[in-house]
Amino acid sequence: MKKDFISIADYTREEIEAIFDLTKDLKDKVKKGEEHHLCKGKTMSMIFAKPSARTRISFETGMYQLGGYALYLSPNDIGIGKREAVKDIAQVISRYNDIIMARLFEHEHMVELAKHATVPVINGLTDYNHPCQIMADIYTVKEHKGRYKDLKITYIGDGNNIANSWINLAAKIPMHLVICSPSGYEPDAHTLKYARAQKVSTIEVINEPMRAVKKADVIYTDVWASMGQEEEAEKRRKIFMPFQVNSKLMANADKDALVMHCLPAHRGDEITDDVIDGPQSIVFDEAENRMHVQKAIIVSLLNK
Ligand code: CP
Ligand code: NVA
Repeated sequence: MKKDFISIADYTREEIEAIFDLTKDLKDKVKKGEEHHLCKGKTMSMIFAKPSARTRISFETGMYQLGGYALYLSPNDIGIGKREAVKDIAQVISRYNDIIMARLFEHEHMVELAKHATVPVINGLTDYNHPCQIMADIYTVKEHKGRYKDLKITYIGDGNNIANSWINLAAKIPMHLVICSPSGYEPDAHTLKYARAQKVSTIEVINEPMRAVKKADVIYTDVWASMGQEEEAEKRRKIFMPFQVNSKLMANADKDALVMHCLPAHRGDEITDDVIDGPQSIVFDEAENRMHVQKAIIVSLLNK
């Protein structure tokens, strides 16, 4: 049976930890300049229905470092679900490539792609979640804090794909997760219910930023209007301004709290320059680790 990487909810804590062990190994090899062609001769199609910098660059470069080849398919190329049915493209690509990475709008399309593909599918973001990002994020937290369990992680902003993925991770790894969103912009209710039922973590949803950051080990934010919500940006800016991660908010947090953002950042909206460029920010370590973690995910899926 082939395996996919669609949601952290589909993985056990042991499987997540095995990916992190492999990540460390692969990252060490890159730093030492050691060849690690674990996917020699393998090919990956990368379907993008939305724009991307990090996801494309990290997957494409990572696949090259593994001795394989990745093809970039832009939003104009496939027209998944529009020009062609999801199940048709799933079967076609499975005849050419060993693995698929996709960034799509509808999460249902990602699930359908994985169902009909006979090769592994990796989710590179949907409107619902962004599991590769959160795997890289918690790996980065571990590098800085020496552990990833039992930390207070505070996410401030829109209850979007990033927030949903943090909640899915909290169902697997013990933490105190605080999601702090304006009323009406909370994360997915089903995901919250599922994660709380696992009884692994304490998950709070509140709307007071000053309280949310108190004693947090990590303060995380993301854009207020995600890809596809551009026309709501002005309206959201007014609603979300009290949730901006700025020096006033940071003055209420511990001095050693880490600041994270999946990027791209809208500087001056959800985060100010002084905070994202400040000493507590680890946003570029986080971006780098996308590549190392994703390589581990590719290797583990191709070796199943
Ligand atoms: N964080 C992230 O996924 O960035 P891109 O949208 O640039 O790929
Ligand atoms: N929430 C953002 C994440 C980008 C990596 C978006 O979906 O646009």
